[in-house]
Amino acid sequence: MQAYYAARAQEYDRVYAKPERQADLRAIEAWLPGALAGRTVLEVACGTGYWTQFLAPRCRAIHAFDATEETLAIARARQLPPNVHFTSGDAWAITPPPEPCDGAFAGFWWSHVPQARLPAFLSGLHAALAPGARVIMLDNRYVAGSSTPVSAPDEAGDTWQERTLSDGSKHRVLKNFPSREALLQAVATSGRDARVREWPYYWALEYTTLAR
Ligand SMILES: C[S@@+](CC[C@H](N)C(=O)[O-])C[C@H]1O[C@@H](n2cnc3c(N)ncnc32)[C@H](O)[C@@H]1O
Repeated sequence: MQAYYAARAQEYDRVYAKPERQADLRAIEAWLPGALAGRTVLEVACGTGYWTQFLAPRCRAIHAFDATEETLAIARARQLPPNVHFTSGDAWAITPPPEPCDGAFAGFWWSHVPQARLPAFLSGLHAALAPGARVIMLDNRYVAGSSTPVSAPDEAGDTWQERTLSDGSKHRVLKNFPSREALLQAVATSGRDARVREWPYYWALEYTTLAR
């Protein structure tokens, strides 16, 4: 995953230029910042900071991390406001940020989490947040003709894509497309007030972590 995203860093934001997805992106860009307004947000796997740039004006602060230096360099070059802090970090071993976070956001990370590791990822995330934090996960819906074709589920229930970068290199990448029911089930015991929003090309899961 990290090697793939390091190689893809310079061309990553092309995914946000797909013509058929523009209406959805404008709708999400208009909705998302208000959903975490005023909060101190931990952003998981921030990549090039595409979503950070929309969150920054409305959040109190953002502690955004990613494991890949190549994507972080692009994020830092955006020169976002001083309430944004980019750091290197690992979503599998989340370091609590230097101040309590009552919000969290992860864009296009959930789909890369093996189903067997989802409970561990969520408990690690929740442990790094203040109790009662509002969490938003944003990710892709599978749309034939727009999405890269996906394999049949493997024995663990995960699906895979073969992706080609502009240099011709090919990469096998885990990419899951969970149902609305699976998303709600995943946070049924660790969250409350959960809801799933859907746009033609994207979904968002929102919930509030339980008091510990
Ligand atoms: C699909 S990209 C999403 C980037 C960004 N959140 C966005 O929505 O544009 C997935 C990101 O996960 C990062 N990543 C991969 N493994 C990671 C890990 N173990 N911990 C943190 N980030 C990781 C990659 O470097 C990449 O930037």
